[in-house]
Amino acid sequence: MRVLVSVTAPEPAIYMDTSQSGQNGRLGQLQERQHQYDPTFTDKVIAATGPNARPRVAQIMPSLVRHLHDFAREVNLTVDEWMSAVQLINESGQMSTDRRNETQLLCDILGLETLVDEITSKLLSSSSGVTPSAILGPFYRHDAPLLPNGSSIVHGLTPSVPWYDQAIADSAFITGRVLTPSGAPIPNAIVDIWHTAPNGLYEQQDPSQPDMNLRGRFQTDADGRYALYALRPVAYPIPDDGPAGKFLKMLDRRPYRPGHIHFIVSADGFRTLTTQVFDDRDEFITKDSVFAVKEELVVRFVARAGDEKARWTLEYDFVLGKEE
Ligand code: DHB
Ligand code: FE
Repeated sequence: MRVLVSVTAPEPAIYMDTSQSGQNGRLGQLQERQHQYDPTFTDKVIAATGPNARPRVAQIMPSLVRHLHDFAREVNLTVDEWMSAVQLINESGQMSTDRRNETQLLCDILGLETLVDEITSKLLSSSSGVTPSAILGPFYRHDAPLLPNGSSIVHGLTPSVPWYDQAIADSAFITGRVLTPSGAPIPNAIVDIWHTAPNGLYEQQDPSQPDMNLRGRFQTDADGRYALYALRPVAYPIPDDGPAGKFLKMLDRRPYRPGHIHFIVSADGFRTLTTQVFDDRDEFITKDSVFAVKEELVVRFVARAGDEKARWTLEYDFVLGKEE
């Protein structure tokens, strides 16, 4: 005999075969649920892939289809629920421009960019002692100006800027070396850096900042050293006025990222490192909405004396793995 045993939301209705009274644990329920659906369906969809699909596509799609179908069966996904997910993805595509990548934000909230970043870096490099990577995020711009070591990436800062006082209080000299895993300096490496203004906005999000503000590329000297003036980073919410924001609200989550500075460090013969460093003063360091924080990337700025251009110093070395 089959009876409907539960209709209360959010737990979906489940049919249980009451003739098997020993089977009413969680696993038994799951197995029972799956039995109500066509057991040949997933294989049919997988088998539809043609012989000319590229090898990597043919390799990964069966797994994607299997996980998607198992997910839908496991939660008894309804048409309304699936359609609202389609709507969310459509809205993020419609909202995305070269200044805003909403679909990437959705992935980041789900931890997907951090996960594929970890997978990619482990696949591509086996060297140990290399600086850990962190996600690129949606606000990188190519072709930031190449600046001499010792110069500043802070532009247009006058007392009329609303965040002037905080920029002065957070002014920082950032320096360090780019090294091989055995500690040898790497000269002529390029250190590409970007971060937000104290209002939490990257320059392309903020018409009041000059073009390419708080971005720059620096070339290491013969000792592998880079040096520049910038600002201590502040915590800020990822853009939450679109589908990613709706999604966070649905999950009862906050949109904040801890203060961080992005880097891409590259040098001939070495694997390019995309990473971020996180200021240890930040309360959101354990609550990053996109899950990018790693212990080795948490840094401490120390008070700086005798330099009218900066109140803080950060010394941070990057270790690059050999290209394999
Ligand atoms: C994300 C990453 C960032 O570095 C940032 O500043 C904002 C959002 C992200 O991963 O979505
Ligand atoms: Fe960022």
